[in-house]
Amino acid sequence: MKIMHIVGARPNFMKISPIMREMARCPEITQTLVHTGQHYDEKMSKVFFDELGLSKPDIDLEVGSGSHAQQTARIMSVFEPVLLDFNPDLLVVVGDVNSTLACSLTASKLGVPIAHVEAGLRSFDRSMPEETNRLLTDVLSDLLFTTSPEAEDNLCREGIAADKIFFVGNTMIDSLLRLKETAAKVDILKRLNLRPQAYALVTLHRPSNVDNESVFRGIVSALKEIASHIPVIFPVHPRTRQRIAALALESGGPSGGNEIRLIEPQGYIDFMKLTMEAAMVLTDSGGIQEETSVLNVPCITIRKNTERPITVTRGTNVLVGTDKERIVSAAKSALGATRAEAPGIPFWDGMAAERIVPILLSWHRSRQKGTQ
Ligand code: UD1
Repeated sequence: MKIMHIVGARPNFMKISPIMREMARCPEITQTLVHTGQHYDEKMSKVFFDELGLSKPDIDLEVGSGSHAQQTARIMSVFEPVLLDFNPDLLVVVGDVNSTLACSLTASKLGVPIAHVEAGLRSFDRSMPEETNRLLTDVLSDLLFTTSPEAEDNLCREGIAADKIFFVGNTMIDSLLRLKETAAKVDILKRLNLRPQAYALVTLHRPSNVDNESVFRGIVSALKEIASHIPVIFPVHPRTRQRIAALALESGGPSGGNEIRLIEPQGYIDFMKLTMEAAMVLTDSGGIQEETSVLNVPCITIRKNTERPITVTRGTNVLVGTDKERIVSAAKSALGATRAEAPGIPFWDGMAAERIVPILLSWHRSRQKGTQ
Protein backbone atom coordinates (compact mmCIF):
# COMPACT_ATOMS: atom_id res chain seq x y z
CA MET A 1 0.00 0.00 0.00
CA LYS A 2 1.54 3.31 -1.11
CA ILE A 3 0.72 6.10 1.32
CA MET A 4 1.53 9.78 0.96
CA HIS A 5 1.38 12.01 4.06
CA ILE A 6 1.03 15.78 4.03
CA VAL A 7 2.40 18.22 6.60
CA GLY A 8 2.68 21.98 6.25
CA ALA A 9 2.32 23.92 9.47
CA ARG A 10 3.49 23.51 13.06
CA PRO A 11 0.47 21.64 14.50
CA ASN A 12 0.62 19.02 11.74
CA PHE A 13 3.91 17.47 12.79
CA MET A 14 2.80 15.97 16.12
CA LYS A 15 -0.39 14.63 14.49
CA ILE A 16 1.35 12.77 11.65
CA SER A 17 4.32 11.45 13.65
CA PRO A 18 2.48 8.64 15.51
CA ILE A 19 0.83 7.46 12.28
CA MET A 20 4.16 7.26 10.45
CA ARG A 21 5.75 5.43 13.37
CA GLU A 22 2.93 2.90 13.43
CA MET A 23 3.03 2.42 9.65
CA ALA A 24 6.80 1.90 9.76
CA ARG A 25 6.02 -1.37 11.57
CA CYS A 26 3.91 -2.64 8.64
CA PRO A 27 5.99 -4.22 5.85
CA GLU A 28 3.09 -3.93 3.38
CA ILE A 29 3.13 -0.10 3.60
CA THR A 30 5.50 2.30 1.81
CA GLN A 31 5.30 5.89 2.99
CA THR A 32 6.21 9.21 1.41
CA LEU A 33 6.21 12.43 3.43
CA VAL A 34 5.51 15.74 1.68
CA HIS A 35 6.12 19.06 3.47
CA THR A 36 4.36 21.92 1.72
CA GLY A 37 6.65 24.51 3.35
CA GLN A 38 3.71 26.56 4.69
CA HIS A 39 5.83 26.91 7.82
CA TYR A 40 9.54 27.14 7.12
CA ASP A 41 11.37 28.85 10.02
CA GLU A 42 13.60 26.44 11.92
CA LYS A 43 11.60 27.11 15.12
CA MET A 44 8.26 26.53 13.37
CA SER A 45 9.27 23.36 11.53
CA LYS A 46 12.68 21.65 11.70
CA VAL A 47 12.90 21.52 15.48
CA PHE A 48 9.67 19.50 15.52
CA PHE A 49 11.06 16.95 13.05
CA ASP A 50 14.11 16.50 15.26
CA GLU A 51 12.22 16.24 18.54
CA LEU A 52 9.45 13.99 17.24
CA GLY A 53 11.91 11.75 15.40
CA LEU A 54 10.10 12.40 12.11
CA SER A 55 12.03 11.42 9.02
CA LYS A 56 13.17 14.28 6.78
CA PRO A 57 10.43 15.05 4.22
CA ASP A 58 10.89 13.13 0.96
CA ILE A 59 9.62 16.19 -0.88
CA ASP A 60 9.56 19.84 0.20
CA LEU A 61 7.28 22.00 -1.90
CA GLU A 62 8.72 25.20 -0.34
CA VAL A 63 5.61 27.27 -0.92
CA GLY A 64 6.16 29.73 1.95
CA SER A 65 3.75 32.42 3.09
CA GLY A 66 1.10 34.35 1.16
CA SER A 67 -2.56 35.31 1.18
CA HIS A 68 -4.98 32.41 1.54
CA ALA A 69 -5.68 32.24 -2.19
CA GLN A 70 -2.01 32.56 -3.12
CA GLN A 71 -0.85 29.96 -0.63
CA THR A 72 -3.61 27.46 -1.42
CA ALA A 73 -3.17 27.88 -5.17
CA ARG A 74 0.62 27.63 -4.98
CA ILE A 75 0.42 24.40 -2.98
CA MET A 76 -2.06 22.92 -5.46
CA SER A 77 -0.02 23.77 -8.52
CA VAL A 78 3.28 22.43 -7.18
CA PHE A 79 1.68 19.43 -5.51
CA GLU A 80 -0.20 18.19 -8.59
CA PRO A 81 2.86 16.90 -10.52
CA VAL A 82 4.21 15.26 -7.34
CA LEU A 83 0.95 13.42 -6.84
CA LEU A 84 0.81 12.35 -10.49
CA ASP A 85 4.37 11.08 -10.27
CA PHE A 86 3.94 9.08 -7.03
CA ASN A 87 0.35 7.98 -7.64
CA PRO A 88 -0.30 6.80 -4.04
CA ASP A 89 -3.14 4.49 -3.01
CA LEU A 90 -4.10 6.98 -0.33
CA LEU A 91 -3.32 10.55 0.77
CA VAL A 92 -3.27 11.15 4.53
CA VAL A 93 -3.97 14.72 5.67
CA VAL A 94 -4.27 16.03 9.23
CA GLY A 95 -5.89 19.03 10.90
CA ASP A 96 -7.27 22.12 9.25
CA VAL A 97 -4.51 24.32 7.82
CA ASN A 98 -4.32 25.62 4.25
CA SER A 99 -1.98 22.76 3.30
CA THR A 100 -4.62 20.23 4.43
CA LEU A 101 -7.25 21.65 2.12
CA ALA A 102 -4.96 22.45 -0.82
CA CYS A 103 -3.57 18.91 -1.00
CA SER A 104 -7.01 17.32 -0.47
CA LEU A 105 -8.48 19.35 -3.29
CA THR A 106 -5.62 18.40 -5.60
CA ALA A 107 -5.99 14.70 -4.72
CA SER A 108 -9.74 14.71 -5.09
CA LYS A 109 -9.51 16.16 -8.63
CA LEU A 110 -7.04 13.42 -9.56
CA GLY A 111 -9.17 10.65 -8.03
CA VAL A 112 -6.68 9.86 -5.25
CA PRO A 113 -8.53 8.70 -2.09
CA ILE A 114 -8.08 10.82 1.04
CA ALA A 115 -7.98 9.99 4.75
CA HIS A 116 -8.57 12.98 7.04
CA VAL A 117 -7.23 12.69 10.56
CA GLU A 118 -9.05 15.00 13.02
CA ALA A 119 -12.22 15.14 10.93
CA GLY A 120 -15.56 16.63 11.97
CA LEU A 121 -14.40 19.44 14.28
CA ARG A 122 -16.63 22.49 13.89
CA SER A 123 -16.49 25.93 15.49
CA PHE A 124 -19.59 26.96 13.47
CA ASP A 125 -17.71 30.19 12.81
CA ARG A 126 -17.20 30.71 9.10
CA SER A 127 -15.03 33.78 9.70
CA MET A 128 -12.30 31.36 10.86
CA PRO A 129 -10.18 30.24 7.89
CA GLU A 130 -9.75 26.80 9.45
CA GLU A 131 -13.52 26.22 9.45
CA THR A 132 -13.60 26.46 5.65
CA ASN A 133 -10.62 24.12 5.47
CA ARG A 134 -12.32 21.58 7.77
CA LEU A 135 -15.68 21.61 5.97
CA LEU A 136 -14.17 21.19 2.53
CA THR A 137 -11.54 18.62 3.49
CA ASP A 138 -14.20 16.47 5.17
CA VAL A 139 -16.53 16.54 2.18
CA LEU A 140 -13.66 15.41 -0.08
CA SER A 141 -12.43 12.62 2.20
CA ASP A 142 -13.02 8.89 1.82
CA LEU A 143 -12.02 7.96 5.37
CA LEU A 144 -12.67 10.31 8.28
CA PHE A 145 -10.93 9.73 11.61
CA THR A 146 -12.45 11.58 14.54
CA THR A 147 -11.11 12.56 17.96
CA SER A 148 -14.41 12.91 19.83
CA PRO A 149 -18.03 11.71 19.55
CA GLU A 150 -19.59 15.06 18.60
CA ALA A 151 -17.40 15.16 15.47
CA GLU A 152 -19.34 12.19 14.07
CA ASP A 153 -22.64 13.99 14.78
CA ASN A 154 -21.34 17.05 12.90
CA LEU A 155 -20.31 14.94 9.90
CA CYS A 156 -23.55 12.95 9.76
CA ARG A 157 -25.56 16.20 9.91
CA GLU A 158 -23.59 17.36 6.85
CA GLY A 159 -24.53 14.20 4.96
CA ILE A 160 -21.27 12.25 5.29
CA ALA A 161 -21.99 8.50 5.27
CA ALA A 162 -21.50 6.98 8.72
CA ASP A 163 -19.52 4.03 7.33
CA LYS A 164 -16.67 6.39 6.33
CA ILE A 165 -16.30 7.74 9.90
CA PHE A 166 -14.10 6.12 12.55
CA PHE A 167 -13.77 7.36 16.14
CA VAL A 168 -10.14 6.57 16.90
CA GLY A 169 -8.93 9.17 19.42
CA ASN A 170 -6.33 11.85 19.09
CA THR A 171 -2.93 11.36 17.44
CA MET A 172 -1.67 14.69 18.83
CA ILE A 173 -2.20 13.18 22.28
CA ASP A 174 -0.31 10.03 21.15
CA SER A 175 2.74 12.29 20.66
CA LEU A 176 2.16 14.11 23.94
CA LEU A 177 1.96 10.90 25.98
CA ARG A 178 4.97 9.37 24.23
CA LEU A 179 7.20 12.37 25.00
CA LYS A 180 5.77 13.50 28.33
CA GLU A 181 8.50 11.87 30.40
CA THR A 182 11.22 13.36 28.18
CA ALA A 183 9.63 16.80 28.61
CA ALA A 184 9.42 16.39 32.38
CA LYS A 185 13.23 16.21 32.52
CA VAL A 186 14.21 19.32 30.51
CA ASP A 187 15.56 22.43 32.26
CA ILE A 188 13.62 25.17 30.45
CA LEU A 189 12.19 26.52 33.72
CA LYS A 190 15.68 26.95 35.11
CA ARG A 191 16.83 28.62 31.89
CA LEU A 192 13.95 31.09 32.08
CA ASN A 193 14.22 31.49 35.84
CA LEU A 194 10.64 30.33 36.44
CA ARG A 195 9.17 28.38 39.34
CA PRO A 196 6.68 25.51 38.78
CA GLN A 197 3.00 26.50 39.16
CA ALA A 198 4.07 30.14 39.54
CA TYR A 199 3.66 31.60 36.05
CA ALA A 200 1.05 31.95 33.33
CA LEU A 201 1.88 30.74 29.83
CA VAL A 202 0.39 32.60 26.84
CA THR A 203 0.08 31.85 23.13
CA LEU A 204 -1.85 33.94 20.61
CA HIS A 205 -1.89 33.77 16.84
CA ARG A 206 -5.49 33.76 15.55
CA PRO A 207 -5.99 36.51 12.97
CA SER A 208 -9.29 37.45 14.72
CA ASN A 209 -7.28 38.24 17.87
CA VAL A 210 -3.96 39.60 16.69
CA ASP A 211 -4.78 41.21 13.33
CA ASN A 212 -7.59 43.33 14.81
CA GLU A 213 -5.94 46.26 16.57
CA SER A 214 -8.56 47.04 19.21
CA VAL A 215 -9.07 43.36 20.07
CA PHE A 216 -5.31 42.77 20.32
CA ARG A 217 -4.75 45.87 22.46
CA GLY A 218 -7.54 44.70 24.82
CA ILE A 219 -5.98 41.26 25.19
CA VAL A 220 -2.52 42.73 25.80
CA SER A 221 -3.99 45.03 28.42
CA ALA A 222 -5.56 41.99 30.16
CA LEU A 223 -2.23 40.15 30.06
CA LYS A 224 -0.48 43.16 31.57
CA GLU A 225 -2.93 43.17 34.43
CA ILE A 226 -2.41 39.43 34.96
CA ALA A 227 1.35 40.08 34.92
CA SER A 228 0.95 42.26 37.99
CA HIS A 229 -0.19 39.11 39.88
CA ILE A 230 1.96 36.36 38.34
CA PRO A 231 4.82 36.25 35.79
CA VAL A 232 3.46 35.94 32.25
CA ILE A 233 5.60 34.12 29.72
CA PHE A 234 4.65 34.51 26.07
CA PRO A 235 6.38 32.55 23.26
CA VAL A 236 5.50 34.68 20.25
CA HIS A 237 4.28 33.26 16.92
CA PRO A 238 5.75 35.05 13.85
CA ARG A 239 2.35 36.51 12.87
CA THR A 240 1.94 37.94 16.37
CA ARG A 241 5.53 39.21 16.43
CA GLN A 242 4.77 41.29 13.36
CA ARG A 243 1.65 42.76 15.00
CA ILE A 244 3.48 43.55 18.24
CA ALA A 245 6.13 45.40 16.24
CA ALA A 246 3.54 47.20 14.08
CA LEU A 247 1.57 48.39 17.10
CA ALA A 248 4.73 49.17 19.12
CA LEU A 249 3.50 46.99 22.01
CA GLU A 250 6.97 45.78 23.01
CA SER A 251 7.55 48.28 25.79
CA GLY A 252 5.60 49.93 28.59
CA GLY A 253 3.94 47.84 31.30
CA PRO A 254 1.53 49.06 33.96
CA SER A 255 3.28 51.18 36.54
CA GLY A 256 4.57 48.95 39.31
CA GLY A 257 3.50 45.76 37.49
CA ASN A 258 5.58 43.09 35.86
CA GLU A 259 6.27 43.04 32.15
CA ILE A 260 4.94 40.30 29.91
CA ARG A 261 8.01 38.26 28.97
CA LEU A 262 8.12 37.78 25.20
CA ILE A 263 10.26 34.84 24.09
CA GLU A 264 10.92 33.06 20.80
CA PRO A 265 8.58 30.25 19.62
CA GLN A 266 9.56 27.14 21.58
CA GLY A 267 10.29 23.63 20.40
CA TYR A 268 7.84 20.81 21.13
CA ILE A 269 9.54 19.44 24.23
CA ASP A 270 10.35 22.75 25.94
CA PHE A 271 6.85 24.02 25.22
CA MET A 272 5.33 20.86 26.70
CA LYS A 273 7.38 21.33 29.86
CA LEU A 274 6.31 24.99 30.07
CA THR A 275 2.67 23.86 29.74
CA MET A 276 2.96 21.04 32.30
CA GLU A 277 4.34 23.33 34.98
CA ALA A 278 2.21 26.43 34.30
CA ALA A 279 -0.31 27.71 36.85
CA MET A 280 -2.54 28.36 33.84
CA VAL A 281 -2.35 28.69 30.07
CA LEU A 282 -4.06 31.49 28.16
CA THR A 283 -4.37 30.70 24.48
CA ASP A 284 -6.28 30.89 21.21
CA SER A 285 -4.72 27.69 19.85
CA GLY A 286 -6.83 24.61 19.16
CA GLY A 287 -4.22 21.99 19.99
CA ILE A 288 -3.24 23.59 23.29
CA GLN A 289 -6.84 23.30 24.54
CA GLU A 290 -6.40 19.55 24.04
CA GLU A 291 -2.90 19.27 25.52
CA THR A 292 -3.78 21.23 28.68
CA SER A 293 -6.85 19.03 29.14
CA VAL A 294 -4.71 15.89 29.15
CA LEU A 295 -2.01 17.48 31.33
CA ASN A 296 -4.69 18.76 33.75
CA VAL A 297 -3.54 22.37 33.50
CA PRO A 298 -6.21 25.12 33.60
CA CYS A 299 -6.72 26.54 30.09
CA ILE A 300 -8.31 29.93 29.46
CA THR A 301 -9.26 30.14 25.80
CA ILE A 302 -9.33 33.66 24.42
CA ARG A 303 -12.01 32.92 21.83
CA LYS A 304 -15.79 33.06 21.63
CA ASN A 305 -16.11 29.49 20.35
CA THR A 306 -14.20 26.26 20.12
CA GLU A 307 -14.27 23.40 17.62
CA ARG A 308 -13.14 21.23 20.54
CA PRO A 309 -16.08 21.40 23.02
CA ILE A 310 -15.01 18.16 24.70
CA THR A 311 -12.09 20.07 26.25
CA VAL A 312 -14.68 22.24 28.04
CA THR A 313 -17.03 19.43 29.09
CA ARG A 314 -14.40 16.84 30.04
CA GLY A 315 -11.13 18.76 30.13
CA THR A 316 -9.76 21.88 31.79
CA ASN A 317 -10.81 24.48 29.25
CA VAL A 318 -12.91 27.61 29.79
CA LEU A 319 -13.94 29.91 26.94
CA VAL A 320 -13.76 33.58 27.87
CA GLY A 321 -13.87 35.49 24.57
CA THR A 322 -11.76 38.62 24.18
CA ASP A 323 -13.23 40.90 26.84
CA LYS A 324 -10.50 42.20 29.15
CA GLU A 325 -12.49 41.85 32.39
CA ARG A 326 -13.47 38.26 31.60
CA ILE A 327 -9.89 37.26 30.79
CA VAL A 328 -8.54 38.80 34.00
CA SER A 329 -11.34 37.35 36.10
CA ALA A 330 -10.78 33.83 34.69
CA ALA A 331 -7.06 34.13 35.43
CA LYS A 332 -7.77 35.22 39.02
CA SER A 333 -10.15 32.26 39.47
CA ALA A 334 -7.51 29.87 38.13
CA LEU A 335 -4.98 31.33 40.58
CA GLY A 336 -7.31 30.91 43.54
CA ALA A 337 -8.68 27.44 42.71
CA THR A 338 -7.41 24.09 43.96
CA ARG A 339 -6.77 21.91 40.97
CA ALA A 340 -9.26 19.05 40.60
CA GLU A 341 -8.54 16.10 38.31
CA ALA A 342 -10.42 16.53 34.99
CA PRO A 343 -12.63 13.51 34.13
CA GLY A 344 -10.48 12.58 31.11
CA ILE A 345 -11.43 12.17 27.48
CA PRO A 346 -12.29 8.79 25.95
CA PHE A 347 -9.66 7.36 23.58
CA TRP A 348 -7.13 10.12 24.27
CA ASP A 349 -4.90 7.36 25.50
CA GLY A 350 -1.87 7.31 23.23
CA MET A 351 -3.26 4.60 20.93
CA ALA A 352 -5.07 6.52 18.20
CA ALA A 353 -2.50 5.68 15.51
CA GLU A 354 -2.71 2.01 16.48
CA ARG A 355 -6.44 2.20 15.76
CA ILE A 356 -6.03 4.08 12.47
CA VAL A 357 -3.52 1.85 10.69
CA PRO A 358 -5.50 -1.45 10.73
CA ILE A 359 -8.55 0.43 9.43
CA LEU A 360 -6.51 1.76 6.49
CA LEU A 361 -5.07 -1.68 5.74
CA SER A 362 -8.46 -3.33 5.74
CA TRP A 363 -9.92 -0.51 3.58
CA HIS A 364 -7.09 -1.10 1.08
CA ARG A 365 -7.62 -4.87 1.02
CA SER A 366 -11.32 -4.51 0.30
CA ARG A 367 -10.60 -2.01 -2.49
CA GLN A 368 -8.12 -4.41 -4.04
CA LYS A 369 -10.69 -7.20 -3.90
CA GLY A 370 -13.24 -4.87 -5.49
CA THR A 371 -10.96 -4.16 -8.47
CA GLN A 372 -9.90 -7.80 -9.08
C1 UD1 B 1 -1.34 28.63 10.39
C2 UD1 B 1 -2.71 27.97 10.24
C3 UD1 B 1 -3.40 27.89 11.59
C4 UD1 B 1 -2.52 27.23 12.62
C5 UD1 B 1 -1.18 27.94 12.67
C6 UD1 B 1 -0.25 27.28 13.64
C7 UD1 B 1 -3.92 28.33 8.13
C8 UD1 B 1 -5.02 29.08 7.50
N1 UD1 B 1 -3.57 28.74 9.37
O1 UD1 B 1 -1.57 29.97 10.81
O2 UD1 B 1 -4.59 27.13 11.46
O3 UD1 B 1 -3.16 27.26 13.86
O4 UD1 B 1 -0.59 27.93 11.36
O5 UD1 B 1 0.93 28.01 13.79
O6 UD1 B 1 -3.40 27.40 7.55
N2 UD1 B 1 5.59 33.06 9.21
C9 UD1 B 1 6.94 33.08 9.48
N3 UD1 B 1 7.61 31.89 9.51
C10 UD1 B 1 7.02 30.70 9.29
C11 UD1 B 1 5.64 30.69 9.01
C12 UD1 B 1 4.94 31.87 8.98
O7 UD1 B 1 7.53 34.12 9.68
O8 UD1 B 1 7.70 29.65 9.34
C13 UD1 B 1 4.85 34.34 9.20
C14 UD1 B 1 4.63 34.87 7.81
O9 UD1 B 1 4.74 36.26 7.83
C15 UD1 B 1 3.19 34.51 7.51
C16 UD1 B 1 2.56 34.55 8.89
O10 UD1 B 1 3.57 34.14 9.79
O11 UD1 B 1 2.61 35.37 6.61
C17 UD1 B 1 1.37 33.63 9.01
O12 UD1 B 1 1.70 32.30 8.58
P1 UD1 B 1 0.55 31.35 7.95
O13 UD1 B 1 1.05 29.98 7.75
O14 UD1 B 1 -0.07 32.04 6.78
O15 UD1 B 1 -0.57 31.35 9.06
P2 UD1 B 1 -0.45 31.08 10.63
O16 UD1 B 1 -0.93 32.30 11.32
O17 UD1 B 1 0.88 30.54 10.98
